[in-house]
Amino acid sequence: MKDTILTILKQQADYISGEEVSRILGVTRTTVWKAIQQLKEQGYEIDSVTKKGYKLCGVPDIVTAQEIKSALTTKILGSEVFDYKEVSSTNKIAKAKAAEGVKEGAVFIAEKQTAGRGRLGKTWESPSGTGIWMSLVLRPNILPQDTPNLTLVAGLAICKAIRNITELPAYIKWPNDIIINGKKVCGILTEMSAEMERVNYVIVGIGINVNTVTFPKEIEKQATSLKLEATIGYNRKDIISELLTLFEKYYQIYLNGLSIEPLLDEYKKLCITLQNEVQVITKDKTYWAKPVDIDKTGALIVDNKDGERISITSGEVSVRGVYGYY
Ligand code: BTN
Repeated sequence: MKDTILTILKQQADYISGEEVSRILGVTRTTVWKAIQQLKEQGYEIDSVTKKGYKLCGVPDIVTAQEIKSALTTKILGSEVFDYKEVSSTNKIAKAKAAEGVKEGAVFIAEKQTAGRGRLGKTWESPSGTGIWMSLVLRPNILPQDTPNLTLVAGLAICKAIRNITELPAYIKWPNDIIINGKKVCGILTEMSAEMERVNYVIVGIGINVNTVTFPKEIEKQATSLKLEATIGYNRKDIISELLTLFEKYYQIYLNGLSIEPLLDEYKKLCITLQNEVQVITKDKTYWAKPVDIDKTGALIVDNKDGERISITSGEVSVRGVYGYY
């Protein structure tokens, strides 16, 4: 009920009377009044004036399905949006729902995660209301070994979305992070369920620090947010909408050619990993190397100190740059 009333209020330039709303919806004025109170509790600024009725004056920065869907123009990504006030991890929920058969493009988003997960078993700090903690379900017809390419597709979309909305100098740290001024603003955690030759589903988990102003001591040197870098805050749904629009566009390009090759020029321009020496950390050894390219399989190509050319796939190693703290 409150979602329908919100839609009606959004369509009005001026006040609409409670009577008119109750007539449109065929409910009592008390029902309308109660729904208006619930919307106000959610943070919507609704002016109520005797004899004139209700007028929507302000929309809060909340990531509800209603708010996100109203901002989206995508066809697949966000076709279904599931919102939560608090969850353990949106990746975990998305995985469970994907196993139950939720459609491709479903988005799972939470205001807060109590057990947000990062790569390599790390935790992901996900305080309430300040970031985008979101997981997408994809069902691409690709081979399991090609799924890391989806992380590159996601990284490109996120990096461009951040640049388009904020004009900040965001860069991709191959393969999983987005960096601004040497600090990490976003991480991507891609997980999949697959058989030998077939992917059942892929979960792309995205964490973006949007309006965060303080970080725990352990990560404060490495982490930043869009607000800290730009000195102004952002409406999270604007970023989500831009991100899903670009993600859908790049995802289609990738699937059409079953290759990231058509995206590589754009990717490489935004990839900070190619600009400096990197430290490659494998199970057995750590070495410095000079990045030379990202090839059409998505691998990072580096030259080691002995001049040997080595191809690094994302699953195998950690790459540390000399840019800022990353
Ligand atoms: C990393 O940089 O280590 C990856 C971080 C990924 C965090 C996101 S937040 C939404 C989704 N749910 C999770 O539990 N993790 C991802």
